Amino acid sequence: MNDTNDALVIEGLAGGYDRFDVIHDISFRVARGEAVAILGPNGAGKTTVLRAIMGLLKHRRGRIAIEGTDVTRMSPHRVARGLAAMVPEGRRLFEGQSVEDNLRLGGIRLRRDRDRTSRLLQDVFDLFPVLKRYRDRDATALSGGEQQMVAIGRMMMSDPALMLLDEPSLGLAPLAVADLTAALRRLREQYRSILLVEQRVDLALEVCDRIYVVYGGRIVDEGRADEMGAEGRALIDAYLG
Ligand SMILES: Nc1ncnc2c1ncn2[C@@H]1O[C@H](COP(=O)(O)OP(=O)(O)OP(=O)(O)O)[C@@H](O)[C@H]1O
Ligand SMILES: [Mg+2]
Repeated sequence: MNDTNDALVIEGLAGGYDRFDVIHDISFRVARGEAVAILGPNGAGKTTVLRAIMGLLKHRRGRIAIEGTDVTRMSPHRVARGLAAMVPEGRRLFEGQSVEDNLRLGGIRLRRDRDRTSRLLQDVFDLFPVLKRYRDRDATALSGGEQQMVAIGRMMMSDPALMLLDEPSLGLAPLAVADLTAALRRLREQYRSILLVEQRVDLALEVCDRIYVVYGGRIVDEGRADEMGAEGRALIDAYLG
């Protein structure tokens, strides 16, 4: 498989928990600089796919490559060393730590490279100016939308080849969702390779080039965001319930 032009190649991925498969024969690609969404209802297996990419799913089969590097059997901490980073479901910020400390903990693998770390921190503050103002505040005291910015910034700080986001819009107020959408669009305009898990179809179509629909642990539909007509949209809505 010649996949060096792809940020991510997944072939025949299956796996789950306690020897029980919850995802089956999942295959898809994310090209370099492309933003791709995985849509699907609760329990479809979206988070499980992201966990597999990060090396966090023990029970799995198939093949996963990030920018041509086979990560199928790689440990999570090696995957996290610049290959992929994830904004986890529910954000999971480090409690009692400032915004800046949360961000710097995301970039801990690069801590000896101070210039690169300050450039990355500047990238985060360029994307989310409010975080620069709040850099000394306790991160968990911020609003939901601001906390999600910290979680995204923390992911950016390891300078990953592939960015994974697990339902970043969950629990956010409409205005915060609009801000999040704008920020993700800017990341995409910077040609970052992004895999976004969402249940909000609008957000996914606004941010991503292509979408896959996962249902019952399988990919059941796929399409280009700019070619999504009313019919395709209705089919996705039906799967999402
Ligand atoms: N740690 C676990 N142990 C056992 N089963 C699990 C575990 N995590 C998830 N599952 C099961 O695997 C299936 C897929 O879960 P997964 O979290 O990947 O779904 P999801 O698409 O991310 O759903 P949601 O939108 O609710 O986050 C579900 O049936 C779930 O109950
Ligand atoms: Mg999930």
